[in-house]
Amino acid sequence: MPAYLPPETVVAALANQVGIIAGNAEKAVSRGVVRAGEALNGLMAEARAGQPVRMGAVEAGLGPILTAVQEGGLARWLDTVWTHDDATYQHCLLVAGLAAQFALHLGFRHEDQFRFVRAALIHDVGKARIPLEILNKPGRLDPDELAVMRTHAAIGHEVLRAGGECDPVTLSAVRHHHEMLDGSGYPDGLVGDQIGDMVRLLTICDIYAALTERRPYKSPMPMADAMAILAAMDGKLEMRLVESFGDAMAAAV
Ligand SMILES: [Fe+2]
Ligand SMILES: [Fe+2]
Repeated sequence: MPAYLPPETVVAALANQVGIIAGNAEKAVSRGVVRAGEALNGLMAEARAGQPVRMGAVEAGLGPILTAVQEGGLARWLDTVWTHDDATYQHCLLVAGLAAQFALHLGFRHEDQFRFVRAALIHDVGKARIPLEILNKPGRLDPDELAVMRTHAAIGHEVLRAGGECDPVTLSAVRHHHEMLDGSGYPDGLVGDQIGDMVRLLTICDIYAALTERRPYKSPMPMADAMAILAAMDGKLEMRLVESFGDAMAAAV
């Protein structure tokens, strides 16, 4: 722009530029949410119908999620995803967005970013086989319902294994995302080093997403309260990673 332009022209041009950038960010997020939603819907439908689960649509959703969070920002991603009223859909897209932010913050290589976001997007595929009255029950599950709900980790693993298109690292993440370092998790009661690095990261994103999800019957939990709950899980979660996750969240707001 030439130096002799009147200030109002410069301001108008800058405002236009800011508007374009904001518009692009908005578009990246809506495109990412749509693509990730399509990937997830296809996957869950196949799992529900007992058909072999294919990974092609999932792969197509991963790049748009990373681009959305990188260009549009995590806050925009969360605001969009929180408006979806299907609990499982909302949850999986929240975990995927959080994982994308975490991976970008940690400076993961391109391949590892994709691996982590893939596991995050599909980690609860086993919920496709859990009865809806348990899955969407408002409030606490009774012990019998909880036992049914907890089968989703092993079911998800089996559904993906039977499909024959899922890599071993992702399979392990799907099976073990509810394992805790002290052995109190499920389905296999793994302890410490038996739980891989990516699973540890995924579990943190999963718990944070569950705490901060938006449901019509409860008020949203503030980010600081969710971080305090994670920080109180010393012994179950790796605190170094919880702190790093907190930094990734703080960097996103
Ligand atoms: Fe789960
Ligand atoms: Fe989950």
